[in-house]
Amino acid sequence: MSEPQAASSIGYIGKALARVDGPLKVTGTARYASDHNVPNMLYAVPVGATIAKGKVTAIDSSRARQMPGVRAILRRGDLAPIAYITPDFGNSLMVDEPRPPFDDDVVRYYGQYVALAVADTFEEAKAAADAVAVTYAPETPNVDPHLVADKTKVMSERGDAAEGYAAAPVTIDTLYGIAPETHNPIETHATVAVWDGDTLTLYETSQGVINHRNVLADMLGLPRDKVRVIAKFIGSGFGSKLWPWSQSPLAAAAAMKLGRPIKLVLSRPMMFHAVGHRPRIEQRVRLGARKDGRLTSLQQDYVNTTSILDDYEENCGEATPHMYSVPNLRVTSGLAKRNIGTPTAMRGPGAVPGLFATESAMDELAVKLGIDPVQLRLINEPELDESLGVPFSSRHLKECLTFGADKFGWSKRTPQVGSMTRDGMTLGWGMATCSWIAAKFDCSASVELRDDGTVRVASASQDIGTGTYTVMAQMVAQTLGIAIERVEVVIGDSSLPSGAISGGSMLTASLVAPIEGAIAAAGKALVSAAVAGQSSPFSGVKADELGFSRGRIEAKNGNRRTMAFDEVLRALKIKTVSGEGSGEGTFGVEGKPKLSSHSFGAHFVEVSWQPEIARLRVSRVVSVFDAGRILNPLMARNQIEGAIVMGIGMALFEGTDYEAGSGKPVNANFADYVVATNADVPELDVHFIEYPDFNLNTLGARGVGEIGLAGTAAALTNAVYHATGVRVRELPLRIEHLL
Ligand code: MOS
Repeated sequence: MSEPQAASSIGYIGKALARVDGPLKVTGTARYASDHNVPNMLYAVPVGATIAKGKVTAIDSSRARQMPGVRAILRRGDLAPIAYITPDFGNSLMVDEPRPPFDDDVVRYYGQYVALAVADTFEEAKAAADAVAVTYAPETPNVDPHLVADKTKVMSERGDAAEGYAAAPVTIDTLYGIAPETHNPIETHATVAVWDGDTLTLYETSQGVINHRNVLADMLGLPRDKVRVIAKFIGSGFGSKLWPWSQSPLAAAAAMKLGRPIKLVLSRPMMFHAVGHRPRIEQRVRLGARKDGRLTSLQQDYVNTTSILDDYEENCGEATPHMYSVPNLRVTSGLAKRNIGTPTAMRGPGAVPGLFATESAMDELAVKLGIDPVQLRLINEPELDESLGVPFSSRHLKECLTFGADKFGWSKRTPQVGSMTRDGMTLGWGMATCSWIAAKFDCSASVELRDDGTVRVASASQDIGTGTYTVMAQMVAQTLGIAIERVEVVIGDSSLPSGAISGGSMLTASLVAPIEGAIAAAGKALVSAAVAGQSSPFSGVKADELGFSRGRIEAKNGNRRTMAFDEVLRALKIKTVSGEGSGEGTFGVEGKPKLSSHSFGAHFVEVSWQPEIARLRVSRVVSVFDAGRILNPLMARNQIEGAIVMGIGMALFEGTDYEAGSGKPVNANFADYVVATNADVPELDVHFIEYPDFNLNTLGARGVGEIGLAGTAAALTNAVYHATGVRVRELPLRIEHLL
């Protein structure tokens, strides 16, 4: 019987650990969906519609079929029917575009799949797809960026916003527009579909393998246990891989039809067609305030485009109702149908575009009132969530503001436009606050304790590049008091215990309870085995006299004998014991919560402006977050930095241009669709003020990721106003508008 090691000194939670899967990635041995090659595999390339509205009248594939290596040109009617599904909105049966591929001959957006070329090699399939001649009866598509809602609804309301506005001595009434943004993860969407008898395996780019399995099973009319979805590594998704898109059932149905495995990988231009985007959004914001800065009315009316096929709603009022204290508030949402592919969640959906508008309006109000913008936020800090009438689980926005202002040197700011200079450049200092929902999903995990001292933790969740492998290993190592190298993390496979989607920055918070529960269950199983086993040092002891803590069986009273799980297993000559655990979701649960649960933050941005050469640079960013306890500062900072880079892209560059006549996204490539690069981004100074929030889990962790993007664009354009006097109300900013 050994003494416990100094297990308590192994503190993995809160440690800035590098990714446990890092070596696999940098050596190229991590296998992403499209890296899977199976014997006998064929390649498929979709043929996309070259009109955005109308009908397919004929498809001539005679030339394509004669080309080398071509196995089939598939079109409507050639595949077993793919069924519609009824989404349950519970994150376990969600689909983006409800229409199954090849369902009819109607074209509703540019790039809609009308045929599929299948060949021995990718190059042959691509050449064949290009040779398919499709004839259309085109109609004029509607891709108009000026939005009038087809239908509207009230999302949040309290008091009388119109009356409050009419009575306010100081008001702001402004309109903000945001260009459609396309998700551009480095890894494009891919499916490798492999049938083995009546069982289908899909290697997928999926942020949710369980949901993907359920949807594909239902679409193909298969029992769910006959479909397995594998996504071991994902080259990010930003929301575009949350729910299945049409390429997946197409690949599966084609593989069934041809009796061969199929690989289908989308090209970069195809990423702009049929796999989601953040839609075009227009928002009118009206603020009413007293002269002392107290808000008396807040109205936000937003409209987003959606597709002909779906009513995707960009929930721009996500953060609005709880951001500030204001007695009268009204948020409305509206949809405008366009001949564009179906939009979907994009990093920080709703809150990100919403906060651009409301935080810009707050800056405009600060200018009008002659009140410092940080001060204006502090004046309007609420005591509780006024929309729900419940306290916040933990809200330290004030501290983010004061800490960030201090780090940035905000007190040196002079409010007059263009009044600050450095090295011959005009400086602009702007700020904005942000918020993102803190919640969790239903989630399960299993843990297996092994006699060699290693531990396997498994969940049908996935790592989209955010660090799930690492944080799961941290949780297990910490709870069991073992070295992290002894933990094997198995995720990204729908055959594992039902996990959660990698979405909403909620997976880490969702995994805490299942992992703790699974460890406790495995410990209980170990105790049962120990008291029963003839060769056990604990035989003859009653189970209720033993406990399991930090990976060791311990006698609860009397002598303080303890023994590590692997020693117990070896003594018992048992290879493994295991347990399952689960946790209940809080996201989307009906009824009023007891606490309002969100993360908060503040961004401070400096831009430098040289009107002589029309050069605008982001020269400094300081961002501070209240996101609960940070489980791994290195990965958390990495997430936030990536999000701020995206926010710089959103403010300065990103926008998908749908050509008026054709409805074609004309900048569907990385030369013309500009994203922020290293040269556009200064060193980012990111801070976390750590107040553990035990409302969500025992570790006090909320989520980090999406919140870094929220508010960034407004802080930047508020800085641009301070430098130039030009108020940017349409994103992305155009340099010519500053001159
Ligand atoms: Mo995120 S938009 O929930 O992947």
